Amino acid sequence: MRLCVLCAFVVKIMSSIAHLTRRYYFSASHRLHNEALGEEENRRVYGKCNNPFGHGHNYALEVTVGGAVEPATGMVVNLADLDRVVGEEILERFDHANLNACRESFASRVPTSENLCQEIFRLLDDRWGREPALGTARLERVRIEETSANAFEYGPRSDNQPW
Ligand code: NI
Repeated sequence: MRLCVLCAFVVKIMSSIAHLTRRYYFSASHRLHNEALGEEENRRVYGKCNNPFGHGHNYALEVTVGGAVEPATGMVVNLADLDRVVGEEILERFDHANLNACRESFASRVPTSENLCQEIFRLLDDRWGREPALGTARLERVRIEETSANAFEYGPRSDNQPW
């Protein structure tokens, strides 16, 4: 089967997309509490996670990027650049922090790991456009392991994504 020139180009681009996942670690505390709900309702919804003194997690964070493999370097993105961006935007902000006190992120949202995933994606996505060093690589997914039993992930779905 012969492909038209445009289709052949699209297939060529698609087949050269690679994905890279980098893992980071940070520790933070939170209390699951919705100020719009009463004390009793908060206890019912969040159980022991509503403990007024909060509790901590050692979070494992995975950041997945995808893009064309740069012929000159053989890489999708330079890990040093990704580490710098994740370090400045995420680890400096959230490591050893009380997430409830991070008002820019959680003033109006409960710091569940679902919301933390979305917030980390948003923060990285905002930074992405200001980082020419990241080249054409796209931010594709953020995944958080909260405990050995719980993992959460967020990323706009598209047919290009493998999960
Ligand atoms: Ni928790």
